[in-house]
Amino acid sequence: MMFVQDLEITNLRVLESAMLVPGQGLNVLYGPNGSGKTSVLEALHLLGVGRSFRSRHHHEMVRRGTQGFRVNGAIHRETGLRRLGLEHGPEGLRIRCDGQPVTSASLLAKELPLVLLTPESQRLMTEGASLRRQLLDWCLFHVEPGFLPVFKRFKRVLKQRNAALRSQEGPRVVRSWDEELIVSGNEVHELRARYVDVFLPAVEAVVDRLLPFRVALEYRAGWPEGRTLEEALGDSLSSDVVRGFTQVGPQRGDVAFLLDGVAARKLMSRGEVKLFVAGIMLAQAAHFIERMGRRLVIMVDEVASELDEESRRRIFSVLGSLGVQTFVTTVSRGLVENEAWLPDAVFHVEQGKVSAVV
Ligand SMILES: Nc1ncnc2c1ncn2[C@@H]1O[C@H](COP(=O)(O)OP(=O)(O)O)[C@@H](O)[C@H]1O
Ligand SMILES: [Mg+2]
Repeated sequence: MMFVQDLEITNLRVLESAMLVPGQGLNVLYGPNGSGKTSVLEALHLLGVGRSFRSRHHHEMVRRGTQGFRVNGAIHRETGLRRLGLEHGPEGLRIRCDGQPVTSASLLAKELPLVLLTPESQRLMTEGASLRRQLLDWCLFHVEPGFLPVFKRFKRVLKQRNAALRSQEGPRVVRSWDEELIVSGNEVHELRARYVDVFLPAVEAVVDRLLPFRVALEYRAGWPEGRTLEEALGDSLSSDVVRGFTQVGPQRGDVAFLLDGVAARKLMSRGEVKLFVAGIMLAQAAHFIERMGRRLVIMVDEVASELDEESRRRIFSVLGSLGVQTFVTTVSRGLVENEAWLPDAVFHVEQGKVSAVV
């Protein structure tokens, strides 16, 4: 059993001081706009990812008129209690796990795996490929122990090759990075391409409970079909030199969501896109739980308000069957209270104050 046992937030946005003791199942946070509900999710995200999902810079989250914010959480795990702490002040960012300094955010992600669903998650379908790659890479990071070292190596070489291109070092210097880029790039590609097939059954199972569609996933390499990565890099070298960055490779990979062979977003209504994206994110959680034999924490920000009653019931029924600790925010309790899954704990949030409702 893994869950957040308590969460303490100080000077984060509108939240001056909040202490939550969540339940192990469904936790509802309700309150008017601007009261601080999303900030509570942001606090959890800070503990599990090391950064926010809506601000690039930590200082933007520091409550106006104060010096810094602090988030502490006790994570109950099979192996015992873990205390995660994150502090941002004039000296910058400090992260601790059981009192020890943490320098890598990937450690946090292992301690507190999170899945987040927000209205912004729709960008998974409507925007460029980076969110879709991130989704796949999140799964690979957790499930395939070999992925992170290869991925880090690939990103490092790519950065060096791009730096050489930017500073107009000439093709010889640029090409000196190619061998390592090709080896690590092919490994990243293989892992992702294989993983799409591993992930698909989870997506099918969840989407099937939400929508009357049969979905397929296809991984797109990030370079022209029928060419190897080595050939593609050669083909695009002169153009890379002109444009100053590497235009082909796994950094341009994508996942296509297809319904009967057609891009899903072309066929679905806005409401269906929302439901479909919820399905993908919950499939990610279901897949993690099954593959890892571990639990994680799910956060659902303000999604219920944009869906009809039947769609909400379906989402809560999927959430309930996953049965992991879940945090749901809403402006109106009525939107999330339903028979499919009853809350364990309810919190009222108002003007930056969080109080448990009994
Ligand atoms: N650095 C900050 N200091 C103080 N208040 C902030 C800061 N950043 C955002 N806010 C305010 O905090 C509120 C954001 O709360 P939020 O968690 O998004 O509310 P909710 O999700 O309940 O609508 C907004 O009213 C915003 O103006
Ligand atoms: Mg909000």
